[in-house]
Amino acid sequence: MAAEPVNVTEFQELARQALPKMYYDYYAGGAEDQYTLKENVEAFHRINILPRVLVDVGKIDISTSILGYRTSAPLMIAPTGMHKLAHPEGEVATARAAAACDTIMAVSFSSSCPLEEVASSCNAIRFFQLYVYKRRDISALLVQRAERSGFKAVILTADTPRLGRREADIKNKMIAPPLRNFDGLISTDVVTDKGSNLAAYASATFDASFCWKDITWLKSITNLPILIKGVLTPEDAIKALEVGVSGIIVSNHGARQLDYSPATISVLEEVVEAVQGKIPVLLDGGVRRGTDIFKALALGAQAVMIGRPVLFGLAANGEYGVKRVINMLKEELELSMALAGTCTVKDITRGHVRTQHDRPLCKI
Ligand code: FNR
Repeated sequence: MAAEPVNVTEFQELARQALPKMYYDYYAGGAEDQYTLKENVEAFHRINILPRVLVDVGKIDISTSILGYRTSAPLMIAPTGMHKLAHPEGEVATARAAAACDTIMAVSFSSSCPLEEVASSCNAIRFFQLYVYKRRDISALLVQRAERSGFKAVILTADTPRLGRREADIKNKMIAPPLRNFDGLISTDVVTDKGSNLAAYASATFDASFCWKDITWLKSITNLPILIKGVLTPEDAIKALEVGVSGIIVSNHGARQLDYSPATISVLEEVVEAVQGKIPVLLDGGVRRGTDIFKALALGAQAVMIGRPVLFGLAANGEYGVKRVINMLKEELELSMALAGTCTVKDITRGHVRTQHDRPLCKI
């Protein structure tokens, strides 16, 4: 039997062993040269944490709230498609793990399980991630189904007018199985002989003309708060404020869309400064350690979202694997906070980290 993983990165190898190559590559891969994929992780390594010593850290509280919902830690499950490729219970297993860990789950538009089934499986707080289809009626229907099923927010993914070029999927001729979330709505079978059927499906269905002014349409079909996922610049952060959304997620889609877009942690602070505390800013991409969460919080994120490690935990061990991944990150964050002299997430400040742009502590 393989040794128990001691950090979330070690779940990746277990997932590789558990999954058919086509599915593992779909989960693990990024776009084109995968420069951004590496950078998302490595940019965290270039940030130091500056601890304060002789602080009473006898009691550490890592809980926080996201959009007013109390949660055990400043981390959420990112929306990722097709959990049944990882495990037969799909999103239901992930949601149960989220509930057990008192963590919010964002459920993907491309969920393998119908939203209603995820909703009735447990009491996890759920947000619904949206892609806007050319068939606006289908997107509207899914938002309304989510709202009726008690989802608490809509996350509009803004970085995907078309699918990024994921070369592993092209080589593997990746075929997405039919998604039960779309039963009776639209066929997900797009036949192509040119490689991945995902890119062909996205080109056929996604509305590449959707833009800032269309947020008015989205607001007209739902009462739920809207977060925009995929913002990487202060300019877009200001536009998001102008159209009146409830939050921003600094994200490059786990490096699966535009290669050579910046590592998310490297642009977080600029976005936070542009937003001036008016709405919450979250971040995803490359978060693999409690120290990464600490760094994102110090640079102004309210919370982070976790993508691949959750999928790898699910592939390795189903619901239990996802719980292990979340709990490992929580435990690491708690320890980092104690060692850095911060008892609550509010105690984590900009002064607790040093980035490459900061003045060096001393000349060496
Ligand atoms: C994603 N992501 C994603 N995002 C989204 O808005 N809708 C989706 O359906 C998906 N699907 C998806 C599938 C897979 C396999 C991956 C890896 C990612 C992006 C996701 O929400 C998130 O932005 C990244 O996964 C965060 O980066 P890390 O944590 O994977 O490094």
